Amino acid sequence: MKQKNRFQLPSGALKKNISTGQQIYEKNCASCHGIEGQGKIGPRLRARLIPKDSFFNVIAQGRNSMPAFRETLDGDQLEALWSFLQRPLTSENN
Ligand code: HEC
Repeated sequence: MKQKNRFQLPSGALKKNISTGQQIYEKNCASCHGIEGQGKIGPRLRARLIPKDSFFNVIAQGRNSMPAFRETLDGDQLEALWSFLQRPLTSENN
């Protein structure tokens, strides 16, 4: 029986979500969090685990100088941002 690769690259749907997330990120977030999510005015968002519920909350509601995006971004767009920022560090999407 053929062994299934446990470390498959993202599926087509996930890849699409990642590239949508990248567009949203570059437009709305990169100026403060850095083009690679490495951090700038705001904290680093890549290469660290941020719990999904607090990720969604802080983006929707804002916090201190982090602006609120509840009027600009819907749930699907937050999902796409999540996929983009949490994508594996070593993949062709990196
Ligand atoms: C005007 C600058 C600015 C923009 C634009 C901005 N952020 Fe932020 N962000 C911040 C700052 C500053 C903080 C730190 C807030 C605090 O806790 O005082 C922050 C915090 C966060 C946090 C919480 C990180 C943690 O360690 O808890 C997340 C997640 C986040 N931002 C994601 C985003 C995303 C995604 C976008 C785009 C939709 C975005 N931010 C746009 C400035 C910004």
